[in-house]
Amino acid sequence: MSDRILRVEGDINLTEARQEWMGTLGGGTIEELNADSSSFIHQALSSPCLDVLESCSGSYLVTTSGKKILDFHGNNLHQIGYGNPKVIEAVSHMMRQLPFSPRRYTNKVAIELARQLTSKVPGLSRVLFAPGGSEANSMALKLVRIATGKFKVVSMWGAFHGAGLDTISVGGEAPFRKNIGPLMTGVQHVPQPESYRQLWKDDPDQDVYVALIRQVFENEGDVGALIAETVRNTDVQPPAKKFWQKIRALCDEFNVALILDEIPIALGRTGKFFAFEHYGITPDIVTIGKALGGGVIPMAAILTNEKFNMAAEHSVGHFTHEKTPLGCAAGLAVLKVIEEENLLERAQELGSLVQARLLEMKGKYEIIGDIRGIGLLWGVDLVTDRNSKTRAFLEAEQVMYDCLQNGLSFKVSQGNVINLCPPLTISVEDLNRALDILEGALIKISTK
Ligand SMILES: Cc1ncc(COP(=O)(O)O)c(C=O)c1O
Repeated sequence: MSDRILRVEGDINLTEARQEWMGTLGGGTIEELNADSSSFIHQALSSPCLDVLESCSGSYLVTTSGKKILDFHGNNLHQIGYGNPKVIEAVSHMMRQLPFSPRRYTNKVAIELARQLTSKVPGLSRVLFAPGGSEANSMALKLVRIATGKFKVVSMWGAFHGAGLDTISVGGEAPFRKNIGPLMTGVQHVPQPESYRQLWKDDPDQDVYVALIRQVFENEGDVGALIAETVRNTDVQPPAKKFWQKIRALCDEFNVALILDEIPIALGRTGKFFAFEHYGITPDIVTIGKALGGGVIPMAAILTNEKFNMAAEHSVGHFTHEKTPLGCAAGLAVLKVIEEENLLERAQELGSLVQARLLEMKGKYEIIGDIRGIGLLWGVDLVTDRNSKTRAFLEAEQVMYDCLQNGLSFKVSQGNVINLCPPLTISVEDLNRALDILEGALIKISTK
């Protein structure tokens, strides 16, 4: 069975470990899961599901059988936790006052959210909203075509930019692309940056990789955009400090629009509002989403500069829920919570705590090949052998199910990278509890 499993992001719902997990569930849960499974179209990384939820609040999910689970997965949208009272209050109020805003009208919350987002970073002074991240990336790609007259896009293998036909075309993960037929033309994928890092170990600024992208720009001659995640979220790959500065300069030299996809990591996850702020650059377009809707309303956006405000004759973001008052009310509440609760600083502080604990674990357990992180986003690379860096697929799965059993949920990416993505509002006590659960699972797997 494992031969046909494509291990990219997310956990796999076809393995033996999943079958064993199902055996641990009670009758009521199994019935619900079977009902789910017999109605929904089965798809990788989703149905069949592994448990049934009753409620969620703060850092916790609660299942119908009463299990409380610390959620370090959260589809990467729970920067301010679940059911944040300020979000619930703002959205409930708006539901009663202006539940919908049809096209040709605007509304005060949309105007205010646009104002606040466009005042975050000088230069990113224009915004469009969208109902999801994939649509936001789609808008960015269209806007570049309109503004530059060029349609070629450079993107990276291993990246995820959404599940739409255009966004899987620039994305680089097989379960989204294989056997799906012709994709968008003009996309040139470059290898995953980390594969180059492994090949050229004495290349601290990733110059070899930058040179590769230069070659593509030169040889294509008319690239319109480079789209990439500032820090790849799934298996947590923060680039070298100078990497984005070099790519920014390269894009300027070849007149290529730099689109940074920060859908899962903007709004504080990395310890800055936008992840690109760590690198001292500004992209031409940044796409954001997930946390923007406060974990309640689907909500995404693109931010760009005046140069790209030239699509007046096109309907770039013609969405039914375009200037959604509910999404905008949620977004404003999220920005307020981030500011009032100093969540950017908190992400850095808690991130240091996670780093210290993970480093300690790395010293103790050979199975940890590498730890990578930024702010409160951490990846723990599990390997069967540190020298060969052989990925520990089965072990990672066992660790995941062990942690689930003990009340901690997280995503496993690339089959062996534990992705730790807790709410920025998590208590230190809960954070340590989660790390204890993880360590408990690592101890078990290490002594097997
Ligand atoms: C980096 C990245 N881009 C785009 C998306 C797509 O966002 P959405 O699921 O809201 O369409 C995601 C979602 O996981 C993502 O992680």
